[in-house]
Amino acid sequence: MIARTASFTFSSSEEMKLWAEGKSSAYMYTRYANPTLAVAEEKIARLEGGEAALVTASGMAAISSALLSVLKAGDEVIATQALYGGSYRLMRDIFPRMGIVVRHVGTDLGGIERLVNPRTKALYIETPTNPTLRLVDLRKAAAFAKEWDLISLIDNTFASPVLQKPLEIGFDLVMHSATKYLAGHSDVIAGAIVGRSSLIKAAREMVIYLGGSMDPEAAFLLIRGMKTLEVRMKRQCATALIVAKFLEKHPKVARVHFPGLASHPDHKLAKKQMKGFGAMMAFDMKGGLAAARRMCDRTRIFLLAASLGGVESLVLLPAYSSHYRMSEKELLAAGLAPGTVRASIGLEAPEDLIEDLRQALA
Ligand SMILES: Cc1ncc(COP(=O)(O)O)c(C=O)c1O
Repeated sequence: MIARTASFTFSSSEEMKLWAEGKSSAYMYTRYANPTLAVAEEKIARLEGGEAALVTASGMAAISSALLSVLKAGDEVIATQALYGGSYRLMRDIFPRMGIVVRHVGTDLGGIERLVNPRTKALYIETPTNPTLRLVDLRKAAAFAKEWDLISLIDNTFASPVLQKPLEIGFDLVMHSATKYLAGHSDVIAGAIVGRSSLIKAAREMVIYLGGSMDPEAAFLLIRGMKTLEVRMKRQCATALIVAKFLEKHPKVARVHFPGLASHPDHKLAKKQMKGFGAMMAFDMKGGLAAARRMCDRTRIFLLAASLGGVESLVLLPAYSSHYRMSEKELLAAGLAPGTVRASIGLEAPEDLIEDLRQALA
Protein backbone atom coordinates (compact mmCIF):
# COMPACT_ATOMS: atom_id res chain seq x y z
CA MET A 1 0.00 0.00 0.00
CA ILE A 2 1.27 3.48 -0.83
CA ALA A 3 0.12 6.01 1.75
CA ARG A 4 -0.42 8.59 -0.98
CA THR A 5 -1.47 11.44 1.23
CA ALA A 6 -0.05 14.78 2.30
CA SER A 7 -1.72 14.72 5.68
CA PHE A 8 -3.31 12.30 8.20
CA THR A 9 -6.54 12.64 10.16
CA PHE A 10 -6.50 12.62 13.97
CA SER A 11 -9.22 10.58 15.66
CA SER A 12 -9.79 13.26 18.31
CA SER A 13 -8.55 16.60 19.56
CA GLU A 14 -7.05 14.67 22.49
CA GLU A 15 -4.84 12.72 20.07
CA MET A 16 -3.84 15.97 18.38
CA LYS A 17 -2.93 17.44 21.79
CA LEU A 18 -0.79 14.36 22.58
CA TRP A 19 0.95 14.73 19.20
CA ALA A 20 1.72 18.39 19.89
CA GLU A 21 3.18 17.39 23.27
CA GLY A 22 5.38 14.79 21.58
CA LYS A 23 3.52 11.96 23.37
CA SER A 24 1.94 10.35 20.30
CA SER A 25 3.66 8.61 17.39
CA ALA A 26 0.64 9.23 15.13
CA TYR A 27 1.42 10.44 11.61
CA MET A 28 0.59 14.09 11.04
CA TYR A 29 2.04 15.36 7.75
CA THR A 30 4.11 13.58 5.07
CA ARG A 31 6.97 16.08 5.13
CA TYR A 32 7.52 14.95 8.76
CA ALA A 33 6.87 11.22 8.38
CA ASN A 34 4.75 8.77 6.41
CA PRO A 35 4.19 4.99 6.82
CA THR A 36 5.44 4.15 3.29
CA LEU A 37 8.59 6.17 3.91
CA ALA A 38 8.96 4.35 7.24
CA VAL A 39 9.03 0.98 5.44
CA ALA A 40 11.82 2.19 3.13
CA GLU A 41 13.71 3.61 6.14
CA GLU A 42 13.53 0.34 8.07
CA LYS A 43 14.85 -1.61 5.07
CA ILE A 44 17.76 0.77 4.43
CA ALA A 45 18.70 0.82 8.12
CA ARG A 46 18.90 -2.99 8.06
CA LEU A 47 20.85 -3.08 4.82
CA GLU A 48 23.51 -0.73 6.20
CA GLY A 49 23.40 -2.20 9.71
CA GLY A 50 22.34 1.13 11.26
CA GLU A 51 20.04 1.93 14.17
CA ALA A 52 17.85 4.24 12.09
CA ALA A 53 17.48 5.70 8.60
CA LEU A 54 15.82 8.60 6.89
CA VAL A 55 14.78 8.76 3.24
CA THR A 56 14.94 12.02 1.30
CA ALA A 57 13.82 13.53 -2.00
CA SER A 58 17.28 13.08 -3.57
CA GLY A 59 20.85 12.13 -2.81
CA MET A 60 21.70 15.84 -2.60
CA ALA A 61 18.91 16.39 -0.04
CA ALA A 62 20.46 13.59 2.04
CA ILE A 63 24.00 14.96 1.73
CA SER A 64 23.14 18.63 2.35
CA SER A 65 20.77 17.90 5.25
CA ALA A 66 23.15 15.43 6.91
CA LEU A 67 26.08 17.85 6.69
CA LEU A 68 24.04 20.82 7.89
CA SER A 69 22.73 18.77 10.82
CA VAL A 70 26.29 18.38 12.14
CA LEU A 71 27.88 21.69 11.04
CA LYS A 72 27.25 25.33 11.98
CA ALA A 73 28.90 28.68 11.25
CA GLY A 74 32.49 28.68 12.41
CA ASP A 75 32.90 24.92 12.03
CA GLU A 76 35.27 23.21 9.65
CA VAL A 77 34.87 19.99 7.67
CA ILE A 78 37.60 17.91 6.06
CA ALA A 79 36.46 16.30 2.81
CA THR A 80 38.15 14.25 0.13
CA GLN A 81 38.96 16.30 -2.97
CA ALA A 82 37.43 13.75 -5.34
CA LEU A 83 33.69 14.05 -4.73
CA TYR A 84 30.48 13.86 -6.71
CA GLY A 85 30.34 17.27 -8.47
CA GLY A 86 27.16 18.37 -6.66
CA SER A 87 28.68 17.67 -3.24
CA TYR A 88 31.93 19.39 -4.22
CA ARG A 89 30.11 22.52 -5.45
CA LEU A 90 27.84 22.60 -2.37
CA MET A 91 30.98 22.77 -0.25
CA ARG A 92 32.77 25.20 -2.60
CA ASP A 93 29.92 27.63 -3.34
CA ILE A 94 27.34 27.38 -0.56
CA PHE A 95 29.14 26.42 2.66
CA PRO A 96 31.40 29.52 2.67
CA ARG A 97 28.23 31.68 2.64
CA MET A 98 27.21 29.91 5.84
CA GLY A 99 30.57 30.42 7.51
CA ILE A 100 31.54 26.75 7.17
CA VAL A 101 35.15 26.12 6.12
CA VAL A 102 35.96 23.11 3.92
CA ARG A 103 39.46 21.64 3.73
CA HIS A 104 40.18 19.01 1.09
CA VAL A 105 42.42 15.99 1.38
CA GLY A 106 43.50 13.34 -1.15
CA THR A 107 42.04 9.82 -1.16
CA ASP A 108 45.20 8.58 0.62
CA LEU A 109 44.35 11.04 3.46
CA GLY A 110 48.00 12.22 3.28
CA GLY A 111 48.70 15.20 5.55
CA ILE A 112 45.21 15.08 7.11
CA GLU A 113 46.64 15.71 10.58
CA ARG A 114 47.80 19.14 9.34
CA LEU A 115 44.21 20.06 8.35
CA VAL A 116 42.53 19.28 11.65
CA ASN A 117 42.11 21.90 14.38
CA PRO A 118 39.72 22.55 17.30
CA ARG A 119 37.08 23.94 14.88
CA THR A 120 37.01 20.74 12.78
CA LYS A 121 33.73 18.94 13.41
CA ALA A 122 33.33 16.44 10.57
CA LEU A 123 35.13 14.21 8.08
CA TYR A 124 33.33 13.57 4.76
CA ILE A 125 34.46 10.98 2.24
CA GLU A 126 33.41 9.07 -0.85
CA THR A 127 34.88 5.68 -1.82
CA PRO A 128 35.18 4.53 -4.58
CA THR A 129 35.43 8.00 -6.11
CA ASN A 130 33.95 9.32 -9.32
CA PRO A 131 35.16 8.75 -12.01
CA THR A 132 38.61 7.18 -11.43
CA LEU A 133 37.38 4.75 -8.76
CA ARG A 134 40.13 5.57 -6.26
CA LEU A 135 39.55 4.22 -2.77
CA VAL A 136 39.80 5.71 0.71
CA ASP A 137 40.89 3.33 3.47
CA LEU A 138 37.68 3.11 5.52
CA ARG A 139 39.41 1.90 8.69
CA LYS A 140 42.02 4.64 8.54
CA ALA A 141 39.37 7.34 7.99
CA ALA A 142 37.08 6.08 10.78
CA ALA A 143 40.02 5.79 13.22
CA PHE A 144 41.16 9.34 12.40
CA ALA A 145 37.64 10.69 13.01
CA LYS A 146 37.44 8.86 16.36
CA GLU A 147 40.85 10.14 17.44
CA TRP A 148 39.84 13.77 16.79
CA ASP A 149 36.23 13.39 17.89
CA LEU A 150 34.84 14.22 14.43
CA ILE A 151 31.51 13.04 13.04
CA SER A 152 32.44 10.81 10.11
CA LEU A 153 30.17 10.83 7.05
CA ILE A 154 30.42 8.77 3.89
CA ASP A 155 28.58 8.83 0.57
CA ASN A 156 28.21 5.06 -0.02
CA THR A 157 26.40 5.40 -3.36
CA PHE A 158 29.04 3.78 -5.62
CA ALA A 159 29.58 0.69 -3.43
CA SER A 160 26.09 0.17 -1.96
CA PRO A 161 25.73 -1.76 1.32
CA VAL A 162 26.18 -5.00 -0.63
CA LEU A 163 29.88 -4.22 -1.10
CA GLN A 164 30.73 -2.27 2.06
CA LYS A 165 29.03 -1.33 5.32
CA PRO A 166 30.87 1.70 6.71
CA LEU A 167 28.83 1.87 9.95
CA GLU A 168 30.27 -1.51 10.97
CA ILE A 169 33.76 -0.04 10.53
CA GLY A 170 32.96 2.93 12.77
CA PHE A 171 31.46 5.62 10.48
CA ASP A 172 28.73 7.75 12.05
CA LEU A 173 26.53 8.55 9.05
CA VAL A 174 26.11 6.90 5.65
CA MET A 175 24.42 8.76 2.79
CA HIS A 176 23.11 7.49 -0.51
CA SER A 177 21.91 8.75 -3.78
CA ALA A 178 19.23 6.02 -3.69
CA THR A 179 18.50 7.10 -7.27
CA LYS A 180 21.38 4.76 -8.18
CA TYR A 181 21.89 1.16 -6.98
CA LEU A 182 19.35 1.12 -4.11
CA ALA A 183 16.38 1.91 -6.38
CA GLY A 184 18.26 0.53 -9.39
CA HIS A 185 15.91 1.22 -12.31
CA SER A 186 16.66 4.85 -13.26
CA ASP A 187 13.02 5.80 -12.65
CA VAL A 188 13.16 7.69 -9.36
CA ILE A 189 15.22 10.42 -7.66
CA ALA A 190 15.81 9.45 -4.02
CA GLY A 191 18.23 9.71 -1.12
CA ALA A 192 18.91 8.19 2.26
CA ILE A 193 20.82 8.79 5.50
CA VAL A 194 21.63 6.00 7.96
CA GLY A 195 23.22 6.03 11.42
CA ARG A 196 22.64 6.27 15.16
CA SER A 197 19.12 7.29 16.20
CA SER A 198 20.32 10.55 17.77
CA LEU A 199 22.09 11.64 14.56
CA ILE A 200 19.15 10.58 12.38
CA LYS A 201 16.81 12.60 14.62
CA ALA A 202 18.93 15.71 14.02
CA ALA A 203 19.12 15.00 10.27
CA ARG A 204 15.34 14.50 10.14
CA GLU A 205 14.81 17.88 11.75
CA MET A 206 17.01 19.44 9.05
CA VAL A 207 15.12 17.61 6.26
CA ILE A 208 11.80 18.82 7.71
CA TYR A 209 13.02 22.44 7.71
CA LEU A 210 14.83 22.38 4.36
CA GLY A 211 11.96 20.44 2.81
CA GLY A 212 13.86 17.60 1.14
CA SER A 213 11.36 14.93 2.23
CA MET A 214 10.64 11.95 -0.01
CA ASP A 215 7.36 11.51 -1.85
CA PRO A 216 5.47 8.26 -0.96
CA GLU A 217 5.40 7.17 -4.63
CA ALA A 218 9.20 7.42 -4.74
CA ALA A 219 9.38 5.41 -1.51
CA PHE A 220 7.34 2.65 -3.15
CA LEU A 221 9.70 2.52 -6.16
CA LEU A 222 12.68 2.49 -3.80
CA ILE A 223 11.23 -0.36 -1.72
CA ARG A 224 10.54 -2.36 -4.86
CA GLY A 225 14.01 -1.72 -6.24
CA MET A 226 15.75 -2.76 -3.03
CA LYS A 227 14.16 -6.22 -3.19
CA THR A 228 16.61 -7.10 -5.99
CA LEU A 229 19.58 -5.03 -4.82
CA GLU A 230 21.85 -7.92 -3.93
CA VAL A 231 21.27 -9.99 -7.09
CA ARG A 232 21.59 -6.91 -9.31
CA MET A 233 24.78 -5.80 -7.61
CA LYS A 234 26.44 -9.22 -7.79
CA ARG A 235 25.60 -9.67 -11.46
CA GLN A 236 26.61 -6.09 -12.36
CA CYS A 237 29.95 -6.51 -10.52
CA ALA A 238 30.68 -9.80 -12.33
CA THR A 239 29.87 -8.27 -15.73
CA ALA A 240 31.95 -5.17 -14.93
CA LEU A 241 35.03 -7.30 -14.32
CA ILE A 242 34.56 -9.03 -17.69
CA VAL A 243 34.10 -5.68 -19.48
CA ALA A 244 37.11 -4.11 -17.71
CA LYS A 245 39.35 -7.02 -18.72
CA PHE A 246 38.17 -6.71 -22.34
CA LEU A 247 38.86 -2.95 -22.39
CA GLU A 248 42.28 -3.35 -20.78
CA LYS A 249 43.41 -5.49 -23.72
CA HIS A 250 41.89 -3.28 -26.43
CA PRO A 251 44.52 -1.52 -28.59
CA LYS A 252 42.58 1.78 -28.68
CA VAL A 253 42.31 2.03 -24.89
CA ALA A 254 45.23 3.58 -23.01
CA ARG A 255 44.11 2.82 -19.46
CA VAL A 256 41.20 1.31 -17.55
CA HIS A 257 40.26 2.61 -14.09
CA PHE A 258 38.57 -0.29 -12.30
CA PRO A 259 39.48 -1.48 -8.77
CA GLY A 260 39.05 -5.11 -9.81
CA LEU A 261 42.10 -4.95 -12.11
CA ALA A 262 45.55 -5.67 -10.68
CA SER A 263 46.75 -2.52 -12.53
CA HIS A 264 44.49 -0.25 -10.41
CA PRO A 265 46.45 1.57 -7.67
CA ASP A 266 43.88 0.59 -5.01
CA HIS A 267 43.32 -3.03 -6.06
CA LYS A 268 44.74 -4.45 -2.80
CA LEU A 269 42.67 -2.11 -0.64
CA ALA A 270 39.56 -2.96 -2.67
CA LYS A 271 40.14 -6.67 -2.01
CA LYS A 272 40.53 -5.91 1.69
CA GLN A 273 37.57 -3.64 2.34
CA MET A 274 34.99 -4.39 -0.38
CA LYS A 275 32.98 -7.54 -1.05
CA GLY A 276 33.18 -6.92 -4.80
CA PHE A 277 34.76 -4.31 -7.06
CA GLY A 278 31.62 -2.47 -8.07
CA ALA A 279 30.10 -1.92 -11.49
CA MET A 280 31.52 1.52 -12.29
CA MET A 281 34.63 2.07 -14.38
CA ALA A 282 36.38 4.64 -16.53
CA PHE A 283 38.75 4.22 -19.45
CA ASP A 284 41.03 6.59 -21.34
CA MET A 285 40.93 6.48 -25.14
CA LYS A 286 44.34 6.71 -26.83
CA GLY A 287 42.83 9.07 -29.42
CA GLY A 288 41.76 11.63 -26.77
CA LEU A 289 38.44 13.45 -26.63
CA ALA A 290 37.70 13.04 -30.37
CA ALA A 291 38.06 9.25 -30.12
CA ALA A 292 36.03 9.16 -26.89
CA ARG A 293 33.24 11.13 -28.57
CA ARG A 294 33.26 8.84 -31.62
CA MET A 295 33.00 5.81 -29.37
CA CYS A 296 30.12 7.23 -27.31
CA ASP A 297 28.27 8.21 -30.50
CA ARG A 298 28.49 4.65 -31.83
CA THR A 299 27.44 2.46 -28.89
CA ARG A 300 23.99 0.91 -29.29
CA ILE A 301 23.42 -0.88 -26.00
CA PHE A 302 25.40 1.50 -23.81
CA LEU A 303 23.27 4.64 -23.62
CA LEU A 304 24.93 8.05 -23.51
CA ALA A 305 23.48 9.48 -20.30
CA ALA A 306 24.25 10.81 -16.82
CA SER A 307 23.55 8.90 -13.61
CA LEU A 308 24.56 5.32 -12.83
CA GLY A 309 23.61 2.19 -10.96
CA GLY A 310 20.56 1.28 -13.03
CA VAL A 311 19.75 -1.90 -14.93
CA GLU A 312 20.86 -0.34 -18.23
CA SER A 313 24.52 0.25 -19.09
CA LEU A 314 25.56 3.86 -19.64
CA VAL A 315 28.55 5.76 -20.95
CA LEU A 316 29.34 9.37 -20.13
CA LEU A 317 32.09 11.85 -20.99
CA PRO A 318 33.36 13.48 -17.76
CA ALA A 319 34.90 16.26 -19.92
CA TYR A 320 31.31 17.28 -20.86
CA SER A 321 29.60 16.53 -17.55
CA SER A 322 31.12 16.34 -14.06
CA HIS A 323 34.43 17.86 -15.26
CA TYR A 324 33.07 20.40 -17.77
CA ARG A 325 35.20 23.54 -18.22
CA MET A 326 38.27 22.05 -16.61
CA SER A 327 41.62 22.63 -18.26
CA GLU A 328 43.75 19.68 -19.37
CA LYS A 329 45.93 20.36 -16.31
CA GLU A 330 42.92 20.22 -13.96
CA LEU A 331 41.72 17.01 -15.63
CA LEU A 332 45.13 15.44 -15.10
CA ALA A 333 45.12 16.53 -11.45
CA ALA A 334 41.77 14.73 -11.07
CA GLY A 335 43.36 11.61 -12.58
CA LEU A 336 41.50 12.05 -15.88
CA ALA A 337 42.61 12.36 -19.47
CA PRO A 338 40.69 14.42 -22.07
CA GLY A 339 39.54 11.11 -23.63
CA THR A 340 38.22 9.52 -20.44
CA VAL A 341 34.89 7.70 -20.75
CA ARG A 342 32.96 6.66 -17.64
CA ALA A 343 30.83 3.53 -17.82
CA SER A 344 28.10 2.18 -15.55
CA ILE A 345 27.54 -1.53 -16.13
CA GLY A 346 23.95 -2.73 -16.06
CA LEU A 347 22.21 -6.07 -16.31
CA GLU A 348 22.59 -6.84 -20.01
CA ALA A 349 24.41 -10.03 -21.09
CA PRO A 350 28.20 -9.48 -20.80
CA GLU A 351 28.78 -10.79 -24.33
CA ASP A 352 26.31 -8.24 -25.75
CA LEU A 353 28.06 -5.41 -23.92
CA ILE A 354 31.45 -6.51 -25.18
CA GLU A 355 30.16 -6.84 -28.72
CA ASP A 356 28.72 -3.33 -28.47
CA LEU A 357 32.04 -1.91 -27.25
CA ARG A 358 33.95 -3.86 -29.91
CA GLN A 359 31.90 -2.40 -32.75
CA ALA A 360 31.89 1.13 -31.27
CA LEU A 361 35.67 1.08 -30.76
CA ALA A 362 36.22 -0.27 -34.27
C1 LIG B 1 28.12 9.57 -5.67
C2 LIG B 1 26.92 10.44 -5.79
N1 LIG B 1 26.45 11.06 -4.70
C3 LIG B 1 25.36 11.85 -4.76
C4 LIG B 1 24.69 12.08 -5.93
C5 LIG B 1 23.50 12.98 -5.94
O1 LIG B 1 22.35 12.22 -5.91
P1 LIG B 1 20.93 12.72 -6.49
O2 LIG B 1 21.12 12.99 -7.95
O3 LIG B 1 20.03 11.58 -6.17
O4 LIG B 1 20.58 13.97 -5.75
C6 LIG B 1 25.13 11.42 -7.11
C7 LIG B 1 24.49 11.57 -8.43
O5 LIG B 1 23.74 12.33 -8.82
C8 LIG B 1 26.28 10.59 -7.02
O6 LIG B 1 26.77 9.98 -8.11
